[in-house]
Amino acid sequence: MQPAVILAPMAGFTDRTFRALCASFGCDLSYTEMVSAKGLYYTDSKTNDLLRLGLNERHVGLQLFGSDPVILSKIVRHLCDTVGNDFDCIDFNMGCPARKITSNGEGSALMREPLLVSNILSAMVKSSTLPISVKMRKGWDEAHVNCVQIASICQDCGISSIAIHGRTRDQLYGGYADLDCISAVKSAVSIPVIGNGDIRSAKDALNMFSYTHCDGVMVARGALGNPWIFSEIKAALCGTHYTPPTEQERMELACQHAKRVIADKGEHGIIELRKHMPFYLQGIRNAAALRQRVTAVESLSDLQRLLLDRHDPKTYNK
Ligand SMILES: Cc1cc2nc3c(=O)[nH]c(=O)nc-3n(C[C@H](O)[C@H](O)[C@H](O)COP(=O)(O)O)c2cc1C
Repeated sequence: MQPAVILAPMAGFTDRTFRALCASFGCDLSYTEMVSAKGLYYTDSKTNDLLRLGLNERHVGLQLFGSDPVILSKIVRHLCDTVGNDFDCIDFNMGCPARKITSNGEGSALMREPLLVSNILSAMVKSSTLPISVKMRKGWDEAHVNCVQIASICQDCGISSIAIHGRTRDQLYGGYADLDCISAVKSAVSIPVIGNGDIRSAKDALNMFSYTHCDGVMVARGALGNPWIFSEIKAALCGTHYTPPTEQERMELACQHAKRVIADKGEHGIIELRKHMPFYLQGIRNAAALRQRVTAVESLSDLQRLLLDRHDPKTYNK
């Protein structure tokens, strides 16, 4: 069986439209944006909307963040009873580095609290009819690298798989992901380990597999503007040929992406979509000039004019 190739959770990006797009290019599993357990507990409608899947969407994990074992276990039970059939697993976020999250003791701040982690995960597993997975980092900072310890706790608590991003919280998204810590986690536990960090091509994915012996790879930023990366990695794993998209195909997919977001969220969806557009422009001619204009588009027709008719000098210079 081929190892799993997974789209990472990305707040603000991996909505149902983008997940479905990546699935159409061969991604095996994706995750919702991180969802606040407290937000669900106090029934914030915006938070609830993150739980809606796209039409025919399959193989999605629901990612929760929080730090209160009681709230988390109640929410897990509620989710299993209500939307349990929609999701393959519930994932717990122990990687988010944002200050507004860590200052509440959530996300990557939990890496500093092994006892609390054990309480939370045991409570979640006990309340769940779905597998509970964890996504974590290498550690809080270089002086506190404890991913192996936390991974062992995960395994002891009945966690089904661990995704590990090979950076400390201190690194945020800078520097490089450390593959040695992913190898160390893989050697320490028997549950599946997913390697994450800096996979931007099939070559990076193959290197992650061969260096760490991980059971699956997870791609985040490398999929933005490039959902083809899943086909590329799948082709490399099967030893088949992969043809990268042409510039025209990339522009067409960007417009298709916009069309689908608007179909899902209405005309205002174009505003949310703008942030995806610079990623589709990476490496194309005149990208710098176009970037500002695509991030200000007001409608689908504006976007189509900019991206599809851009070789027409009359349109381009308007
Ligand atoms: C814009 C953005 C949003 C993210 N949101 C989440 C999130 O909601 N949950 C999570 O576990 N990780 C989140 N991450 C971290 C990614 O899932 C991933 O671990 C990290 O970007 C490293 O992978 P990469 O090098 O392939 O980008 C986010 C990353 C980015 C860039």
